[in-house]
Amino acid sequence: MKNVLVTGGAGFIGSNFIDYFLKAEPECRVINLDALTYSGNPQNLVQFADREAYVFVLGNICDSELVKSLLYRYEVDTVVHFAAETHVDRSIKKPDEFMKTNVMGTFTLLEAGRCIWLEEKASTSGDFRFHHISTDEVFGSLGSDDPPFSESTPYNPSSPYAASKASSDHLVRAYYHTYGLPAVITNCSNNYGPYQYPEKLIPLVINRAINGVQLPVYGDGKNIRDWLYVEDHCEAIWRVLKKGRIGETYLVGGDTQPTNLEVVEKICELLDKRFPSSKNAPHRRLIEFVPDRPGHDFRYAMDIGKIKQELGWLPKHSFELGLEKTVDWYLPNPEWVKEIQQKQGYKEWISTNYADRGENK
Ligand code: NAD
Ligand code: TYD
Repeated sequence: MKNVLVTGGAGFIGSNFIDYFLKAEPECRVINLDALTYSGNPQNLVQFADREAYVFVLGNICDSELVKSLLYRYEVDTVVHFAAETHVDRSIKKPDEFMKTNVMGTFTLLEAGRCIWLEEKASTSGDFRFHHISTDEVFGSLGSDDPPFSESTPYNPSSPYAASKASSDHLVRAYYHTYGLPAVITNCSNNYGPYQYPEKLIPLVINRAINGVQLPVYGDGKNIRDWLYVEDHCEAIWRVLKKGRIGETYLVGGDTQPTNLEVVEKICELLDKRFPSSKNAPHRRLIEFVPDRPGHDFRYAMDIGKIKQELGWLPKHSFELGLEKTVDWYLPNPEWVKEIQQKQGYKEWISTNYADRGENK
């Protein structure tokens, strides 16, 4: 690896990954292609602004000429593809952008790889790699007693988001099988940690609880997600980049599966400890059960045996430790959150998503 094109590097996982990667691989250069949609935030990357090893390119992954020119100009040998529309609830309200970015954007990147790497052979390095970042949601929903997802679980996506990511995974595999494009896929479970856009469950709950605002739990709160601290995900990606086998898929997960209600309660407990005399304590009295998400997947769980055995990766953070670190990042960074909350796009989303659920905040 020398020149690494990261797509969507101004988002939550992408920006954590660039930070992790430039420390792990100080000889490499990162070219970050990001369209700065509502969830892309240049503030996540200010520490890299003057670094020679970091180049930011404002642009869309659907722009074929731009993508090809970047692969060519920077002699890119590795693509790590994060850029996507990522929020299930948004995909239910407005699926169009999910199809454009997640399906057509991935297709555009794969075509650029095929053209510049395989046909024009325009880089001096013959050693290429396309690492596609995907999700456990492509597998659909598990029942209480079902075994966890594994690399051989058939795809069965439920939401427009999950279907668009499943389509992108299929395209990546098709390019590997048909053209020999050297691709690898990782499917990861729910991430949490610093820089997560505050519409997602964990940052939403932290920031609302601090401010004494209602904590909306969909349905009965019994849905289960497998939660992974973002830094552990970044390490997994790095290990797969270094040693993962081309053409393979690796599942990445946190090996911890609380219910949504347990997640919210744990955040409340942490805040009670930090602010015992707050007028909002005990914070759990802010919890409110609100109408469920349509088609809400019940349970996700991951068998991480393959990445553990082949690459020696395991999550380093327990859910308790990761959550504490996350709360300890959001508490001293209210300005980061406030800047987002003041934007029209955020306000509109919150009123659209929660107005149907009896709230006008
Ligand atoms: P995010 O929404 O925080 O960031 C997405 C980034 O992609 C933003 O910076 C945005 O500006 C950029 N982007 C969107 N459309 C673009 C386009 N057309 N061209 C260029 N850039 C564009 O998302 P995230 O949570 O960091 O997720 C990153 C990846 O990880 C996604 O592919 C997602 O499917 C996958 N993933 C996320 C999770 C999770 O829990 N967050 C879990 C598993 C997999
Ligand atoms: P989310 O963070 O949107 O991630 P995903 O849908 O990709 O898993 O949601 C995590 C879980 O939390 C999911 O089961 C939906 C639930 N949830 C709520 O109960 N209330 C909320 O306000 C949000 C945003 C999510």
